[in-house]
Amino acid sequence: MKIQGCVALVTGANRGLGKAIVSALVEAGAAKVYAAARDERQVVADGSRVVPLTLDVTKPEQIAAAVRKAGDVTLLINNAGALNSFNVLTSTPGDLDADFRVQVHGTLGVIRAFLPVLERSSGGATIVNVLSLTSLASFPPLGGYSASKAAAYSMTQALRPELKRKQIDILAVLPGPIDTDMVKDLPMPKTSPADTAKGLLAGIARGDEEIFPDPMAQQMRELWNKSHKEYKRAFASF
Ligand SMILES: NC(=O)c1ccc[n+]([C@@H]2O[C@H](COP(=O)([O-])OP(=O)(O)OC[C@H]3O[C@@H](n4cnc5c(N)ncnc54)[C@H](OP(=O)(O)O)[C@@H]3O)[C@@H](O)[C@H]2O)c1
Repeated sequence: MKIQGCVALVTGANRGLGKAIVSALVEAGAAKVYAAARDERQVVADGSRVVPLTLDVTKPEQIAAAVRKAGDVTLLINNAGALNSFNVLTSTPGDLDADFRVQVHGTLGVIRAFLPVLERSSGGATIVNVLSLTSLASFPPLGGYSASKAAAYSMTQALRPELKRKQIDILAVLPGPIDTDMVKDLPMPKTSPADTAKGLLAGIARGDEEIFPDPMAQQMRELWNKSHKEYKRAFASF
């Protein structure tokens, strides 16, 4: 998809990767970017093309209101994500549920609600789901989160042929660790949100069904292509 001139909506746009995606979209020439956040006052509207929008992806009434306000979206980026569940044995059902509510039910709720809007786009439209390398294999210290990202990846695959018939592409982004609040306590090499956002937009422009936006993700893609078993072993051994 051509980023220049598109009308994008980014969820979780007030901080972390979402905020960097908004800046990258503006820089790449998007005509308008709806920066959606649970608290829209936290959105940095650093240009007239950025429109703050209130959206908690787990709240159907807020999703419906966002559709009414953003009826011209052609690029929907489901970036909002939560990390509440870690070890699968010790995470509470509530923590597991919290991750699935955002990653799976929230993302699907937003996609379903915006379908009529995206279908109206004359030049076709694109949905981008921000997933994780843990969508492909579990990272046991984040086992509950990994399960939610694997479910969101499976859902993305399920939607692809159906959406294709409606002229809508759906792309999966599988980043490695990003230097944001989400993983601030995990000591490991991380890519900056700005560089990850840049890689993500390059993947959208190419129309890659699976986008590996940063150097670690690209390295892991090589391993995945070489051997699924070795990829799974690498994650399990952390
Ligand atoms: N950081 C990493 O290493 C990494 C790696 C791979 C993939 N990812 C994915 O990248 C995406 C962005 O994460 P990040 O690293 O930028 O994390 P972050 O800094 O923790 O930001 C998470 C964003 O999601 C929003 N959010 C959480 N629950 C929400 C809800 N119910 N409705 C709407 N927005 C909600 C947060 O809003 P509030 O400010 O209101 O909480 C925040 O804007 C996520 O999907 C994450 O899983 C991250």
